[in-house]
Amino acid sequence: MTVRTRVADVSDVPETGSYLFTVRERGGNEEEVILVCCEDEEGPIQAWKNFCQHETDQRLDRGVGNGAVMRDGGVVCPKHGSVFDSCSGYCDNGKAAGSTLVEVDVEVEDGGVYLTDDGLTYRHDGGIEDDDDDMPSSSSHLSF
Ligand code: FES
Repeated sequence: MTVRTRVADVSDVPETGSYLFTVRERGGNEEEVILVCCEDEEGPIQAWKNFCQHETDQRLDRGVGNGAVMRDGGVVCPKHGSVFDSCSGYCDNGKAAGSTLVEVDVEVEDGGVYLTDDGLTYRHDGGIEDDDDDMPSSSSHLSF
């Protein structure tokens, strides 16, 4: 059974930018995912793992401002400028030409965006570095 987690409101996803959140893979690794607006029949929202296909340590959304830079309906890699189509994830230009971003399954319903990817568990909004959930809760360890 697929467990759906509401990740964001559709209105949280900027038309010219991206919405960043963090997931955990089955193996325990954390990964960043971006939500972007998509204008065609795939839309209105698509989700991609937040790394370039040319150099996979290069984030597309660096966690600042409105997120990823968008141009002509595509996500621009900040390092060498390749543009990935926001709907298909495909890149036909620059150093990442011929590659496709890694897709993450989401559904849009009632104004919300839901993570439906069987292999991923929602962790928190923002990037991996933004996680403060691992900090111990000070009150939970108190005893009287
Ligand atoms: S690292 Fe993205 S195009 Fe080179």
